[in-house]
Amino acid sequence: MRRLILLLPLILFINCKQQPAIPTGVVAEKAMVVSAREEASQLAVDIMKKGGNAFDAMVATELSLVVAYPFAGSVGGGGFMVYRKNDGEVGGIDYREKAPLAAHKDMYLDSLGNVIPGLSTSGGTAVGVPGTVAGVLEVHRKFGKLPLKEIIQPIIALANKGVVVTEKQANRLERTRERFIEANGDSTKFAGPFVTGDTIKYPAYANTLQKIMEEGRDGFYKGEVAQKLAAFVQENGGLITIEDLEKYEAVWREPVVFDYKDIKVISMSPPSSGGVTINQMFKMMEPYNVSKFGHNSTKTIQLFTEASRRAYADRNFYLGDPDFVDIPYDMLLDDEYLQERMANFSFDKATLSSDVSHGEVEIIESAQTTHYSIVDSEGNAISATSTLNGGYGSKLYCAELGFFLNNEMDDFSSKPGVPNMFGLIGAEANSIAPEKRMLSSMTPTIVEKDGKLFMVVGTPGGSTIITAVAQTILNVYEFNLSMQEAVNAPRFHHQWLPDMVIFEPEGFSEELKADLKSKGYIINEERTPIIGKVDAIRVLQNGKLEGGADKRGDDTAVGY
Ligand code: DON
Repeated sequence: MRRLILLLPLILFINCKQQPAIPTGVVAEKAMVVSAREEASQLAVDIMKKGGNAFDAMVATELSLVVAYPFAGSVGGGGFMVYRKNDGEVGGIDYREKAPLAAHKDMYLDSLGNVIPGLSTSGGTAVGVPGTVAGVLEVHRKFGKLPLKEIIQPIIALANKGVVVTEKQANRLERTRERFIEANGDSTKFAGPFVTGDTIKYPAYANTLQKIMEEGRDGFYKGEVAQKLAAFVQENGGLITIEDLEKYEAVWREPVVFDYKDIKVISMSPPSSGGVTINQMFKMMEPYNVSKFGHNSTKTIQLFTEASRRAYADRNFYLGDPDFVDIPYDMLLDDEYLQERMANFSFDKATLSSDVSHGEVEIIESAQTTHYSIVDSEGNAISATSTLNGGYGSKLYCAELGFFLNNEMDDFSSKPGVPNMFGLIGAEANSIAPEKRMLSSMTPTIVEKDGKLFMVVGTPGGSTIITAVAQTILNVYEFNLSMQEAVNAPRFHHQWLPDMVIFEPEGFSEELKADLKSKGYIINEERTPIIGKVDAIRVLQNGKLEGGADKRGDDTAVGY
């Protein structure tokens, strides 16, 4: 008995630690959507209330973000989705853009073999063949419950009614105004200026949706829409033809699935690098008692940074479109190999990226993508990230069809060793070839615990996507934060090259940074961008859902 009394504080401590964090985000009984804008989350929830499932809600979210969040809403772009059905079946779909048939390896190089600035990022030359419409329609064909018409009609209504400009959106539009005019002329719809509270309507997009609703995939990839789209890209110097559009197919892919301690992580496989890279990072960290190190402590940041450094070095060298390159998964995901990669790690001193590989690069532009997480009342979950790549993509707005076009071609490696706009250095595996998909960092992810759905998570953020998703999962699992706290928590990033740790402006003390510097870490002092905009859902012990909508944007969780 005395022994028991003595042990009581320890038992209580262990129990307390095991109690999941009290939710601080929106809590819903049955179903939830967390996306970049309330209009999209609400519309998708309404679809579920009408009897639609998470897959129907995905179609609704994706197609409505085009007007609710034109910064990244991606009918002119592409993305990835990972799902987990209520019976535990998992899968993923790749609706990533492709290089046009006329694309070739050196298409962005001058006669001396140097990269011509801007060609892969702006205007028609930057545009990859869009995949989003094929992706959502394929998801609907396979798993949808409601007729397409019931899903698309409210989006047509939203496009015609218009969406109110928020303060953050007004700032983004203003920041990009000159570039809209450069790309589209000064009579473009987005020549603005716009102020908070304005309403932007999208009747041309409503017409495009009508075509998709009536004719399905052919309404976008064949006929009038395809002709207009190809002609528009070509008028702007791009290569996309009607044949490119006709040939585009979304592809179902096996997700990357691995265990980390007692959770199972399900994430996107190539041509996204997200799943493989997060798998490598987590396996390198697994032998350590991370929760004991403390949230965002020096030791946690060191361990995470060293795992990222090594995983991104592999990412950049080995990963590309699996339909074009052989990816050595067995080696990359082998436990022994990963532990070996960490053999020279020490808490005393930073490893130098030049000892892992070499190169000098700089992150040039911050940009946008969008992520949404959905759980329906049957317990099906979807995690989807889609993008135009840069904010408003290539900045080309196809007025006739009512949407922006991507600049995803920049995600290819234009020349080995030369960084893209995220500072990512690519290799042969990610070189340009006709019909090849460019390597992505998008990491739509689902986490299981004890064989049950535990978390749905993802984010925009270019190369920082993978580290932001990994930190959010660790925040909940290792540091016992609520979903909303985990999403709000300050983030940091390292991607092998450039060899520097980037911190968000708030939340990391000077003392911590000095401590890391004393161990040889190079800290980026100048740049203080936000890192990711995570939208996530956690399943609570009582089966309710907690949304984590990132405070960094207008992101909103809606549930019922
Ligand atoms: O696929 C990728 O990795 C990039 N095109 C994503 C771009 C992105 O996240 C921009 N957002 N901040």
